Amino acid sequence: MTSARTQPAIPIAARVHRFTYAIRNVVAEAQRVEAAGTRVRYLNIGDPVAFGFKTPPHLVAAVDRALRDGHNNYGPSAGIPAAREAVAAEYTANGFPMTADRVFITAGTSEGIELTLSAVVDEGGEVLVPMPTYPLYTAVLAKLDAKAKYYRLDPSRGWMPDLDHLKSLVTPATRALVVIDPNNPTGAVYSTETRRALLAFADEHGLLILADEVYGDLGFEGAIEPYGRLDPDAAIISFSSLSKAYLAPGWRTGWMAVGRSPRLDDVLAAVRKLADGRLCSTVPMQYAIAPALTGDRSHQPAFRNALKARAELTIGRLCAMPGVTCVAPTAAFYAMPRVALPPGRTDEHYVKALLHATGVLCVHGSGFGLPAEEGFLRIVFLAPLEELTEIYDLMEQFTAQYLSC
Ligand SMILES: Cc1ncc(COP(=O)(O)O)c(C=O)c1O
Repeated sequence: MTSARTQPAIPIAARVHRFTYAIRNVVAEAQRVEAAGTRVRYLNIGDPVAFGFKTPPHLVAAVDRALRDGHNNYGPSAGIPAAREAVAAEYTANGFPMTADRVFITAGTSEGIELTLSAVVDEGGEVLVPMPTYPLYTAVLAKLDAKAKYYRLDPSRGWMPDLDHLKSLVTPATRALVVIDPNNPTGAVYSTETRRALLAFADEHGLLILADEVYGDLGFEGAIEPYGRLDPDAAIISFSSLSKAYLAPGWRTGWMAVGRSPRLDDVLAAVRKLADGRLCSTVPMQYAIAPALTGDRSHQPAFRNALKARAELTIGRLCAMPGVTCVAPTAAFYAMPRVALPPGRTDEHYVKALLHATGVLCVHGSGFGLPAEEGFLRIVFLAPLEELTEIYDLMEQFTAQYLSC
């Protein structure tokens, strides 16, 4: 006989209260709006496949073949050799010399980041994270009982990092610097000068650089070089995946590449140890990595052009709305407009009011770490141009009303 009715609920761990993931959290509210009969336009999550972009057929065929050929066993914890070799060759060709034994195949960029932060940050350790940030970093740090120290990205300078602010945040507990470039949520690509300054800063303070380069192939004018090219001997770990530029986010397949610096050898060993603990990442999908990196990439210029056209429409429409400003993105599929909120209002209030009035779902800037009163929000502009036009019509009407009262 259980005591289900008499005993209190099973308690949950304190870390769950520290853990937030705004991109997904807003969905519950949207589902309520949908259940009440309003069509919801989900502009909250950066999934190109959800907006009709197709996974390249030769990658689907590679996974299909792997499944049929019986590659349904556990694989090596660092990944299958063919995938690791293809990743190493790709970085080397792009100027960041890499060997396969320093590559891990992971469940997306996300798992690589979690493995790395787990390997280098103790409880109470600090990591420099951009503000606004992609929320994965703060979520993982919350789980580790470590601290995100936010360095400002500056919208008045095209969302470049504020280096003086960054420098002011270093303490003896600082372990790593997170750089997301090309950036989510701003769509910015950092200048070479800024990249060099970030590398010099990390070197001066003995910090590991986590270079999140998941949008590296999605610069509107072409692929963006990896950080490791600027200094192959820096303490850099680069992360990427099949999710964005290869249009397969649901496969949860990515990689991390550990720079050749001997200063990284202990981190490499620590990640290897932790990676053993999760056995391996999904094996059949790993068979798509070599075909992705060494095969036909003709979908990428087409995808980049589609993104550029959407970005142009987005910026044109947003900047024409009274009370709205926006820095033009130069990569990926995000824009971070700012609404000049009346005093006392928050970004979340605006985003929820927009959702309820129009069904348009965006994510409030405070979900990425920005102060709520600054009025930022993130738009994913992957929808077709005609739909984006309808969405911006709705937003324009709503915003005019919202700001007038
Ligand atoms: C900056 C950034 N890093 C990591 C991720 C996670 O990507 P993956 O699907 O490779 O885990 C995303 C996904 O949106 C992202 O925008």
